[in-house]
Amino acid sequence: MTSPELPRAVFDLFKEAVAKHISRSFSISIEVAFAGVDIGKRGHDFTIAVPRFRLKQAPVELVSKAVDEASFVSDEYLEEIIADGTFLHYYCRTTTLTRLVLEQVYDLSTPSPSIPSGRYGTNNSGAGKKVVIEFGSPNIAKPFHLGHLRSTLLGTFLSNLFVANGWQVVRMNYLGDWGKQFGLLAVGFDRYGSEEALSQNAIMHLFNVYVAINQDHTAEKAAGERSPTDILARNFFQKMEHGDPSALALWQRFRDLSIRKYEDVYQRLNVRYDVYGEESRVDRKRIKTVIEDLRAQGLLTSKTEADLKRGKVVRNPQKDFPVSSTGSNQLGLAVDLEKWDLGKPVVEKDDGTSIYITRDVAEAMQRFDEYHFDKMIYVVGDQQTFYMAQVFKILSLLNFPAADRLEHVSFGKVERMSTRDGEVKFLEEILDEAKEAMRTQMESNAEKLSRIEDKNYTADQVGMTCVKIQDMQAKNGSLGPKVFVFLGYMGMYKFNAKSMTSFEGNTGAYLQYAHVRLCSIERKVAPDVVLPPSPSLINTSLLVEPKAREIVFLIATYPEVVKASFKNYEPSTIVGFCFNLSHLISSAWETLVVKDQEIELAKARLFLFVCARKVLATAMRLLSLIPLEKM
Ligand code: ARG
Repeated sequence: MTSPELPRAVFDLFKEAVAKHISRSFSISIEVAFAGVDIGKRGHDFTIAVPRFRLKQAPVELVSKAVDEASFVSDEYLEEIIADGTFLHYYCRTTTLTRLVLEQVYDLSTPSPSIPSGRYGTNNSGAGKKVVIEFGSPNIAKPFHLGHLRSTLLGTFLSNLFVANGWQVVRMNYLGDWGKQFGLLAVGFDRYGSEEALSQNAIMHLFNVYVAINQDHTAEKAAGERSPTDILARNFFQKMEHGDPSALALWQRFRDLSIRKYEDVYQRLNVRYDVYGEESRVDRKRIKTVIEDLRAQGLLTSKTEADLKRGKVVRNPQKDFPVSSTGSNQLGLAVDLEKWDLGKPVVEKDDGTSIYITRDVAEAMQRFDEYHFDKMIYVVGDQQTFYMAQVFKILSLLNFPAADRLEHVSFGKVERMSTRDGEVKFLEEILDEAKEAMRTQMESNAEKLSRIEDKNYTADQVGMTCVKIQDMQAKNGSLGPKVFVFLGYMGMYKFNAKSMTSFEGNTGAYLQYAHVRLCSIERKVAPDVVLPPSPSLINTSLLVEPKAREIVFLIATYPEVVKASFKNYEPSTIVGFCFNLSHLISSAWETLVVKDQEIELAKARLFLFVCARKVLATAMRLLSLIPLEKM
């Protein structure tokens, strides 16, 4: 959690200076004035659109009043004001801005265990509030696919972002380790499994088994009424639900092997969880209570073959694309949500076994008892938008006290991801391909390559940065207040190791390179230019070039960028900032030379680059990247 002594962002001090002046000249409150201070465009530091205050006096008159000598006196914060029609532009005093921003960045950027991405840019707006963020949530014994990757990356980013905004965060992985698919897998293992293959690569083998058994199932279904494979699978799952020891032992084995594998992947991805929730552990008693409560409220009905035959296409009520509602082809006890256009989700199957949605409802209650969260976010792909809306509706019908604290953060679907077809690209294959692409690039420069200590690690990190950046660049569109949809790659995920890992254009490789280059200037100018122990000993007023000021101003805005990104949960806002900063720095190398300069000037410029590097690294860490020092 952010500690209370976090100083105010320097940027806010300047904004406040503008707000004070506006407040005095227009006789409005500082708060109202503050909310009207925008970051300027085309080289203006701040801009005020005067009409927005809707005051009695004409905006042009107010503008001329504000720029009047009697009203505006330049001081250590503000240097100049300019009238521009109904707009006012303000300019910060460069020397003050530069000194304060760089000192604050320097002080606050060191990563700490509580805020690993560094404290610069963080704020206390969420102090005292707790959020549970559920993300990733792969299905045990099924492969971790790109949909899970998106959820994992987005969830990790959101966790970091909430921490940066002062919240206490519980990172949760809700493993899909229960359900009929386990029955199917067990039947499949009996038919196609091999102990040897299982011990070599459990996930891959279980995946192959899963695909094979699904093909049987599909073929049987096409041929006749009930699939024998399906009956066997149901029987097996029933045994699991009734605690049959041999069924549970097999389940436990598949599960343990899968979890072990997932943990390796999380480590590789720089992702961590605070807790593992599991579908298998949802309290049975609570599931029963949920059913009883629904019954008591007269909300239960039974879903029959006739209902299924009606074959209504279920559509996402908020947007016109079809969604599969999980369990839509089930028979059993259902909740009638037709009134809300949410179909009739089955909550208990006709054989009495529990079902995904009922577990989710009971699990939400369990989590609230345990964490008393102020907010809970489910990061789940948009194929489950309709499903999540059903879960939320059932919870509110049951008067769940935290029903209005739930949010579904969703993202565009990843095509060709059906596990049943077996046309999946494994996450590890993708990471390995990206790594190989990076290695090939690195090998083309023998001299550079020789300087890198751990070539394998470096290629892997850069490759992974490329995959993550590609994913998090996607823009996010909002579907109503509680549903955020990441529209990037909607319907398609183009995986192209070559373009993704290029050093040109806005790729992860480019970002890592920008960071590495910043690190290397420190090494190159040492030992002639070394920074003093305290930043106050550096003469930052020597940084007079417009490029230097541009860099200072951009890094001064970082705390605002963090807040903006928090408003709509957009990783692309942070990604955009990283690229802007990297491009700006790369355009400054020729004007802000450090080598062979007068020593005080060299130190000041080096200090500027060091601070820029710290901010870039902080923003990269927020995105779960590990900034590299050499590559
Ligand atoms: N395990 C599910 C899947 O892979 C995702 C779980 C989403 N979270 C939830 N609470 N239902 O499709």
